[in-house]
Amino acid sequence: MRKPPIDVRPATGKLGILLPGMGAVATTFMAGVEMIRRGQAKPIGSLTQLSTIRLGKRTDNRSPKISDFVPLASLDSIEFGAWDLFPDNAYEAAVEAGVLSREHLELVKPFLESIHPMKAVFEPSYVKRLMGPHVKTGTSKMDLAEQLMEDIARFKLERNVERCVAVWCGSTEVYRETTPVHATLEAFEQGLRDSSDDIAPSAIYAYACVRSGVPFANGAPNLAADFPALQELARDKQVPLAGKDFKTGQTWMKTIIAPGLKARMLGLQGWYSTNILGNRDGEVLDDPESFRAKEVTKLGALEYILQPKLYPDLYEGFHHVVRINYYPPRGDNKEGWDNLDIFGWLGYPMQIKIDFLCRDSILAAPIVLDLALFLDLAQRAGMSGIQEWLSFYFKSPMTAPGLYPEHDLFIQLIKLKNTLRWMRGEELITHLGIEYYD
Ligand SMILES: NC(=O)c1ccc[n+]([C@@H]2O[C@H](COP(=O)([O-])OP(=O)(O)OC[C@H]3O[C@@H](n4cnc5c(N)ncnc54)[C@H](O)[C@@H]3O)[C@@H](O)[C@H]2O)c1
Repeated sequence: MRKPPIDVRPATGKLGILLPGMGAVATTFMAGVEMIRRGQAKPIGSLTQLSTIRLGKRTDNRSPKISDFVPLASLDSIEFGAWDLFPDNAYEAAVEAGVLSREHLELVKPFLESIHPMKAVFEPSYVKRLMGPHVKTGTSKMDLAEQLMEDIARFKLERNVERCVAVWCGSTEVYRETTPVHATLEAFEQGLRDSSDDIAPSAIYAYACVRSGVPFANGAPNLAADFPALQELARDKQVPLAGKDFKTGQTWMKTIIAPGLKARMLGLQGWYSTNILGNRDGEVLDDPESFRAKEVTKLGALEYILQPKLYPDLYEGFHHVVRINYYPPRGDNKEGWDNLDIFGWLGYPMQIKIDFLCRDSILAAPIVLDLALFLDLAQRAGMSGIQEWLSFYFKSPMTAPGLYPEHDLFIQLIKLKNTLRWMRGEELITHLGIEYYD
């Protein structure tokens, strides 16, 4: 069914990308964008830059690039801002992160050196393994939120930026569930004034961004914006939200392979995943409370994809174990092992082994870019609140209350592309295909 296109405001002026947390992912992202802008690298891994989108029938031969189909902000129009509890500039932070080679970093050294983080809102009880000097002080959490709003306003003015988006690239905070303070906007704002212990720094950033009209995506598993009060504010302020936890390595693999097992009605007895990781993220995740946040987002995907209640003979009671071991020699170059005990016809057992030698931040950087550009697009298209079509990028997609998340990577991709078609008034693609044989 064809609908009139949505009225999308054009991407005029500059787009500010604000990053709470300027560590491995954020610096790899910024350095990469700058190298791409200068023609020194290609945007590998980014759908907004490389992917095409099929329109109409297969026989129509219409497959424009996504960037030619929807009005995205150009890479040249991007200005970067960040907050961190360490005062190092982006070059120093990138050297510390150890993701990109010195040769690559030298190419963009003056650019990275010009990016200085703003002072962070930070509470050691939420990230136990870190302590840094570059932190705001205030009379209450509301005061800290106001200081962040001032940072955003100043950044916009100084950089002559028309619109901003924010992507949380900060450390994983300890696991916390929602409490009454998260239930309504009124309770949350009172909680900010009372400096409630239940309000995490990431939620203060999310609040300040949404209040400032800045779309917010959460790349980590902590709540940040995933609770009713923030969603209420996002709807009031017409601001899009997305999260949680970038889907990069092992969970990305899971959401590719699990739909394949289910598609062929093959059973799963157990899935054991373990990782060694030696970057600062690995160090933070070595704290059991931060790991718990990660474990929860990592465990959910299989349960939702395999639907044991619908297929008890195949999936009821399967064992799922996820471990992350901090092992400094590997730095950002994680190694993830998976062992799958599966079974087939007549219950005969089989095994699948995966050994994924991946580079965490290399996989995450293009996700940050796509999220920033798509959230900006969504806002210009008048979309607000949770952007389910961006589930593709997350381990634990945010959804409306009562709705279970879609984890299957391929369904997520169809959802993403159909949303773009819908935005432009193009026919949605159902893959029915029967019309070719009439
Ligand atoms: N790289 C991946 O593949 C991947 C995948 C999924 C999720 N993530 C998440 O993305 C986040 C960033 O990962 P990374 O590898 O860049 O980690 P990192 O440790 O290199 O960087 C995180 C940065 O955030 C800063 N920080 C922490 N709390 C802050 C606060 N309250 N305000 C401002 N800055 C703060 C830290 O000082 C650090 O510089 C982590 O939460 C990680 O779990 C990463």
